[in-house]
Amino acid sequence: MKTENHSLMNEECLSWDECFILDIEIIDNQHLNQFDIFKKILNVRECNYNYENMLFFLDELEKQSTIHFKTEESLMLVAEYDEIELHNTQHLYFLQQLQNFKNTFKYCNSKLIEQLHEFVRKWILNHIYVEDVKYAQTVKSYIIREIDNWVI
Ligand SMILES: [Fe+2]
Ligand SMILES: [Fe+2]
Repeated sequence: MKTENHSLMNEECLSWDECFILDIEIIDNQHLNQFDIFKKILNVRECNYNYENMLFFLDELEKQSTIHFKTEESLMLVAEYDEIELHNTQHLYFLQQLQNFKNTFKYCNSKLIEQLHEFVRKWILNHIYVEDVKYAQTVKSYIIREIDNWVI
């Protein structure tokens, strides 16, 4: 049973846990991918020294998140999930914030890195655990209906 205040929210790093599994394979794989990229970002601690690395991983997170959000948005649309607009707005906000971090990175310092870590960690954990989970049942029901239609 899920609770609103999951203990992982308080951890320093972003950890994968069973509670993040939505049981929609393509989505779960994409979420795992987001976690992996974020772990790489966490490992880039020295901003000046690893500036190129940080930008590389931020680009990667942006790219993979864009693909992932498109997948979710398509599934929510065909499944007629009724909170799709609100959900899509949150995706847009995340991508805009990533862009803001990238734009200010030339002024980067340890404080900015900390802010970036904190923002990405909290946003991804909260978004999957609280928001993505809301559409899961609607999308799963849609997929099951579709499969039933394919079976002769
Ligand atoms: Fe997601
Ligand atoms: Fe989402």
